[in-house]
Amino acid sequence: MASTQQPQNLRRHIGGRQARPFWGAIVCGCGVLCSPMFAEVKVADFGTTTDGIAVKQYTLTNSHGVVVKLIARGATLAEWHVPDQHGNMDDVVFGFDDVAGYESKDNGYFGATAGRVANRIAGGKFKIDGQEYTLAKNDGPNTLHGGLQRSLDKVVWEGQSFEKNGEQGVAFKYVSPDGEEGFPGKLTCRVTYTLTDKNEVRIDYNAATDKATPINLTNHAYFNLSGAGSPTILDHELMLAADHYTPIDETLIPTGQIAPVAGTPFDFREFHKIGARVDQLTDQPGKGYDHNFVLNSQTGKLALAAKVRDPKSGRVLSVYTTEPGVQLYVGNFLTGAKGKGGKTYNHRSGLCLETQHYPDSINQPKFPSVILRPGKTYQHTCVYQIATE
Ligand code: GAL
Repeated sequence: MASTQQPQNLRRHIGGRQARPFWGAIVCGCGVLCSPMFAEVKVADFGTTTDGIAVKQYTLTNSHGVVVKLIARGATLAEWHVPDQHGNMDDVVFGFDDVAGYESKDNGYFGATAGRVANRIAGGKFKIDGQEYTLAKNDGPNTLHGGLQRSLDKVVWEGQSFEKNGEQGVAFKYVSPDGEEGFPGKLTCRVTYTLTDKNEVRIDYNAATDKATPINLTNHAYFNLSGAGSPTILDHELMLAADHYTPIDETLIPTGQIAPVAGTPFDFREFHKIGARVDQLTDQPGKGYDHNFVLNSQTGKLALAAKVRDPKSGRVLSVYTTEPGVQLYVGNFLTGAKGKGGKTYNHRSGLCLETQHYPDSINQPKFPSVILRPGKTYQHTCVYQIATE
């Protein structure tokens, strides 16, 4: 098609708003604008929550045909279709085909944005400026991933799709009222996903509060680089840019110690198969890796945190973050949930690399602070990139 005309149906109604199309201007030899590259984020209805709230699904595509789907419940990374070393596409993250799946007890925070405080808070309690706050305990004696009912993975976010510099994305916003799940302050959270032409999913987090409050946002995607539903991740090889980790007690709360990884099964400074030493870890519920690693980069600048190689598919996941820590969780609590397309997510068949501050930081004065104060902005970037080798 050689045309300078915009198609009639260019302005489409998306999610209750007008979508702005992206035009890649391609000027060919004849000097006219040829084959305009029309890229638009696809928006569809994904279903309705049990509370009657409609959930949108957003489909992002890049120039290599990589497809990412996001859903507004939990600002969730729901699908990521990427080629293997032979060019075959697989969806490499866990998820469900419908809202009911995400609302079910089988959902171990698949792909969700976890918060307001991802990871654990010991005893479901903390103090800020002398005032004590009590939260719901949803993980034995502790609070996990922001609480019981209206943690950030369970609420429906407002999504706004965009196209910028040829890349597609969705900006999600959720305003958590003062006191929600027991946390102080009205917290305005933004999570922006961008699919880049380097096959990266870039996640930019941003938040502001009107009262001092703890915050620790992360993404809880489970990856299996052979394709979600493949039997194991114990054959994946992992490298972590971490000389130290935070040992935990029998309820997975850090002891406060920052321990060297050298000479332990936590030493991933060079690639090791996840399965090689996982069974040496028997001291905590679930056993296996479920630990925070203290990243070598503590500058707040984007730096490599982890790499995962899958010898079978040739896919390699690289994780970059501005955060000081990453939680490695290897699916110890998975028990065979039925996910997308009827695939089964068995014990240790998915792994999470959750970039974040350290668990229970709000009660651990020696850990980097998670307190956000009015007038300050919380910011965090995490980039997941999948390539082949
Ligand atoms: C992880 C956490 C695990 C488990 C999981 C959800 O982030 O480290 O212990 O709770 O979430 O099943």
